[in-house]
Order: sequence, then structure tokens, then C-alpha cells
Amino acid sequence: PVLVVDFGAQYAQLIARRVREANVYSEIVPHTITAAEIAAKNPVGIVLSGGPSSVYEEGAPSIDPAIFELEVPVLGICYGFQAMAKALGGEVAHTGQREYGATDVTLVPGESTLLSGQPLEQTTWMSHGDSVSKAPEGFDVLASSASTPVAAFSSDARRLYGVQWHPEVKHSSYGQAVLENFLHRAAGIPADWNSGNVIAEQVERIRAQVGDSRVICGLSGGVDSAVAAAIVHKAVGDQLVCVFVDHGLLRADERRQVEEDYVASTGVRLVTIDAEQQFLDALAGVSDPEQKRKIIGREFIRTFEAAAEALVLEAAAEGDSAVKFLVQGTLYPDVVESGGGTGTANIKSHHNVGGLPEDLQFELVEPLRTLFKDEVRAIGRELGLPEVIVGRQPFPGPGLGIRIVGEVTHDRLELLRAADAIARAELTAAGLDDEIWQCPVVLLADVRSVGVQGDGRTYGHPIVLRPVSSEDAMTADWTRLPYDVLAKISNRITNEVAGVNRVVLDVTSKPPGTIEWE
Ligand code: XMP
Repeated sequence: PVLVVDFGAQYAQLIARRVREANVYSEIVPHTITAAEIAAKNPVGIVLSGGPSSVYEEGAPSIDPAIFELEVPVLGICYGFQAMAKALGGEVAHTGQREYGATDVTLVPGESTLLSGQPLEQTTWMSHGDSVSKAPEGFDVLASSASTPVAAFSSDARRLYGVQWHPEVKHSSYGQAVLENFLHRAAGIPADWNSGNVIAEQVERIRAQVGDSRVICGLSGGVDSAVAAAIVHKAVGDQLVCVFVDHGLLRADERRQVEEDYVASTGVRLVTIDAEQQFLDALAGVSDPEQKRKIIGREFIRTFEAAAEALVLEAAAEGDSAVKFLVQGTLYPDVVESGGGTGTANIKSHHNVGGLPEDLQFELVEPLRTLFKDEVRAIGRELGLPEVIVGRQPFPGPGLGIRIVGEVTHDRLELLRAADAIARAELTAAGLDDEIWQCPVVLLADVRSVGVQGDGRTYGHPIVLRPVSSEDAMTADWTRLPYDVLAKISNRITNEVAGVNRVVLDVTSKPPGTIEWE
């Protein structure tokens, strides 16, 4: 792999993704890693990420200087560039001059491996206080900016490279080219990592892990579990049984998409559990969001366990070997964020519904553990899964249960499902799916307002549209939707959904608002 050494900022994941976009497999490792540990991973290249600190700060992360002696090509970025300069005998100065955001740099004319083929004047994305004031002995200075005499350097002889700017950020106009020059030209790594070989590799791994045991997988209707199950099915066929809990909090058509489209395209064995009434009974009289989440989570686990137990009994009755494995759609960011990677703070702790208790007697099969979301989608497409599932926007495990502000009832769910279906259909028809991260549609069940429709007064509920744009759901901005699309959604919902007489738009970013209303 190419190892991305994480200095604790949030850039490491982005770098790892961009390296993979160049069709090279990458992994994130913490900056505390030793040169010997790095060598043991047999890397073909190393990228040192940016970081939040100054190299002079007390406790500033440093890098084992012996990694520069491994004869593995290294690219230092921002903080990594400065740490590299310092470790190799260059100088890093507190200039007191911060550069932040779009910054012009000027390349030194002449042929260079790293910046080959790039215009001499270009805009890059910077975020630093300190600057490299002198390149290490034997290095060529490749670029400068107004406040940084050394904005990039290289030693082709030692295959060591560095840039002050962030090539992984899209605002750096030639950023991806810097990464690709490093990977393909400087380090000579072929561009041969793609979703096809990920599938082949995982299929082999799963067969070795599972043997002839049976495997169970909970499908949520979302991308991750759908793709994970499809890979496992490709590996072990009907040893896999999928369980789909219909808790009644799904959106319109989701159950059919799983039961018909997904099953038709994959051939998986599917057991659907009808549990709407059980969930509604448990939710009766409850308005508090956290309480709802707890109830939905608890009921989900109960239902899933009962289904799993039935399958275990069935396997035993058929004299087959036990059901030993459970498929989980864990993704690489979850692995990195739960400490599998780094010194990065653990920012997100979403209790997923579908998260199962630890005493469940299964070993985990996690075919997506090394993958980012966009890669999971690519693999799903490669496996021929329906676009409605592969292209799906994020949807919370507790479903519509946390999009009804107030008590959850069957009638309210039907009303919200109808409004949500209209909003989704119109957004898709307007070609806005790529621009929107997700668009929760929320029913304010405890609020009523006066309206007039036909020749009568109405006293109905408002529907809130919450379209957001985001990279990772940690932060988000409200999406500026065209007025005519909003008008169409509003007209249709108030005309077609009885009980709704008002549609409002949420224009709050995150923070301070969360994406969901509950
Ligand atoms: P918030 O509302 O915290 O949402 O800004 C961030 C992302 O997480 C999703 N979300 C959940 N997902 N269980 C889930 O599986 C939950 O309880 C839950 N709450 C929020 C939300 O849809 C958004 O994508």
C-alpha cells in the first residue's frame, strides 16, 4: 500500500481517498508509527499529512527520521512537509505570516518530477503559520509564494518530495496532478487498483474465513449492508441468509426495492420480518427523540435476534453446520475514527440502529472495512445492484421515527411517507440528487396552522424540507435549491397530502442545527 501518515488533522482521510482515486491502494497510519513498523508493511510510497500544530509547539507530533532512510518515496504535505524539512536538516521559521485559503504560488521554471506539466502560476489551498525557510541540503526548491520562499521541494535522487499546500483539497487547481506525479512518476506505482480487484480479493478472503458455515446479514435498505451482503453472496452463495426488518418506519417503496429489485439482481436468500405493529406499540405515547431512538434500537435487536435464532434452529434441523458469522457493513472511516488509525479526535459516535449487542454469538465478516463510501458505491455498481439502492442518500437507522416531531403513529407515518416521496421524486426529476447530501422531510405533528383551501378553512400540519450539502455529515450547509423546484414540491405536497397545509424550508447550517430535526 501507500501509507498516509496521519498527523492528527482531518486531511488524512481525504488524502487516502485521493490516492485511491489515482487507482493506488492506500491506508492510514498514526504518526507514532516507527520506521520499522512502516517497513514491515512493505509500502510502495508514504504520504505525510497535514496537521493542526506548529513543529515548534510542545508535544508537536514528529516523525521517526529513519523513515527517510527506508528508500521508500515520501511526499510531505503542509505540516508533513515542515516535519520533513526539520527532520532532514532544513529550517522551519515562525514567520508570523499566516497563509490561509486560496494562495497563489509561483513554480521555479524547469523540469521537475513532482510538478511536471503544470503552469508556473497557480492557485493552491494553504493553511499554515510556520514556513520552511531553507530546504534541506541537496534538495531543489520547486515553488514559492508571497510569504513562503520554499513552498515545495524535492530530491529526485532520494525520491523525497514536499509541498506546503494541500494538493488533496479541490481548491488546489493542480492538486490531483501533484499526487499523481508523486505516485506514478516519482514512485513508479502503477494505476491498477480498482473495484474489480477489490471484489476478487474480498471474495477470496470471505471464502477462507467462512468455510462451509452459514452466514447471516441484516439488510437495512441502505448502500453499505446491501453491498456487503452482495459480496458475501458472491463468495459463499446460499450459505448467506439476509434478514430485513420492516419496522414500519421506512420510506415509500423501500421494502419493494429490497424484496424485488435487490433480490432479483443478487439472488440472495431474503427473510422479511413484518414488525410495524410491534414497533408502533412500543413507540405509543413517546415524543422524546432519544427515547424513540432507544426504543427503536431495542426493538430492532429483539427482532433481529429472534430471526437469527430461527435460522440457527433451521440450520441445525437440516443437519447443516452452524450459523457462525454475521455480516456488517463497517466502512473505513468508522475503522479510522474508532481509533483504528490515528490521533484524530473521535468526533462521531452514532449509535446505529442495526448496531447489535456484543453478546450475540457471531464472528463478524466485514468486507467493506478498507473502503470509503464512494468506493462502496462503485463496487455495488460493478456487482450490478440497482441504482435506487447504490445511489441512495444516507437515511438514519431509526427512519421516519425521528422525522415526526411528536408521537409516531401509523397515520402520521403514511402522511410523511407521501410528502417525502413527492419531495424525493421532484428533486430527482430536477437532477439535484448529486448536489444534495440528503434531504430529510419532517412532519411537525404537534404544530398546526391555519390555512385556506378550496372554499374552506384548514387547520393542518407543516412539512419541513431540510435539503443539505455536505462532505461527511459532520458539517453541512443548507442547499440553495431553485425556487421553481421548491414551488413545485410545495404545491404538490399541499395539494396531494391531506392534513398538510404548509411547507417550510429549513435554512440552517450545521452547526448550529443538526441535519435531522431529532
Ligand atoms: P445529524 O442529525 O446528527 O445527522 O446532523 C448526521 C447524519 O447521521 C444520520 N443520523 C443517524 N443515523 N442513526 C443513524 O443510523 C441515528 O440515530 C441517526 N441520527 C442521525 C443523519 O441522517 C445524517 O446523515
